[in-house]
Amino acid sequence: MSGAPIVARSSSAEETRGIGAALAPVLRPGDMLLLVGDLGTGKTTFTQGLAAGLGVTAPVTSPTFTLVRAYACPEPGPGPGGGEAIRTLLHADLYRLERLRDVVELGLGELVEDDAVAVIEWGDMAGSLFGPEVLTVRLAAGSGSCGAPSADDEGADDEGADDERIVTLEADGSWVERADALAHALGPWKR
Ligand SMILES: Nc1ncnc2c1ncn2[C@@H]1O[C@H](COP(=O)(O)OP(=O)(O)OP(=O)(O)O)[C@@H](O)[C@H]1O
Ligand SMILES: [Mg+2]
Repeated sequence: MSGAPIVARSSSAEETRGIGAALAPVLRPGDMLLLVGDLGTGKTTFTQGLAAGLGVTAPVTSPTFTLVRAYACPEPGPGPGGGEAIRTLLHADLYRLERLRDVVELGLGELVEDDAVAVIEWGDMAGSLFGPEVLTVRLAAGSGSCGAPSADDEGADDEGADDERIVTLEADGSWVERADALAHALGPWKR
């Protein structure tokens, strides 16, 4: 079961971090977020914002060569329902994994069960391995990134257009119950 996608627009890396941070209060221990999007669309940038929103102070970098990084969340805040605290953020990147078995061996499913939240870049590479209880976050270059000149271009450089990203949340499984909270969190960036 899935609800209508929630669509937001980001016009800078800073805004994408803001979107990640805004989602942090909606999260609960055991949550899995699959980040889906082409190279350089902002999956790690989004994770940096989410980490900041969870109170992580350590710098969040791409886990490409380590596969999974764990960050302590020193200032866990209760979710909207006053749920249990999130103690750990797991940040994984499946890009380099060649076999599904490698993903299984990461044991993300078991790791999140305690008191963690997992954010998985290239999460779609694992197919439906993580089951339906996932929030899919899709990042895509905005229309301004396709090279087409914008109508309101007044001679200023076009770099801003290349920074546009469309961020789409797809709430599956029991995430549907939090669709309103997710949409509210993304309010400032919704389109
Ligand atoms: N609106 C935006 N949102 C996110 N990143 C943006 C935006 N505009 C520009 N950028 C830039 O795009 C790059 C995104 O890189 P990032 O490492 O987050 O992507 P990624 O999806 O994790 O890539 P990879 O698939 O290689 O892991 C950064 O250099 C960032 O500054
Ligand atoms: Mg990345």
